[in-house]
Amino acid sequence: MTLKDTDARAVAERGTPLIVWREDWNLGIPGMDRDHRILVSLINQIPLAFGGAEERVIVTSVLNGLWDYTDFHFAREEAVLAAAGYVHGADHAARHEDLKVQVLAYVEGYAKDPDAVDVGDLLAFMERWLIDHILVEDMRYVDAVRLSPGAENAADHVQLVDDGTVEDFFSQLDA
Ligand SMILES: [Fe+2]
Ligand SMILES: [Fe+2]
Repeated sequence: MTLKDTDARAVAERGTPLIVWREDWNLGIPGMDRDHRILVSLINQIPLAFGGAEERVIVTSVLNGLWDYTDFHFAREEAVLAAAGYVHGADHAARHEDLKVQVLAYVEGYAKDPDAVDVGDLLAFMERWLIDHILVEDMRYVDAVRLSPGAENAADHVQLVDDGTVEDFFSQLDA
């Protein structure tokens, strides 16, 4: 066992999720808040995915799901911002692209060589980007979207490749 396995297992064995959703993270824009909660759920799967018999398959699946949903959420959010005429939409989308490059680097890095990925770094990065994304970057567009009734509906026109993933997570959240 390597140090990184120990780190991941320690997080998993604490019994509490890596990230516990806080009500003050809500933007008050239901579709985006639900997306963010799903991203939290997905990131919380990462420490649980390490340490089992089929670790590589499960971690790969979790990381791929997280990548897909990140891409989907960003596309939904950008559609909402465009519909709202948010003046900083291009900057926001550029920040999404930066984050996607970083998330994908972890997904591809793990696919290429699982032993080369430091799980502690991975968890710290996932936790930090999500919280910064919501609390800093997304909070900036809240007023613009709220002042544009109906803009949120633009998110409904964005399709995820595998809708089953979304339905699974919606049903978990509703349980
Ligand atoms: Fe967001
Ligand atoms: Fe965003």
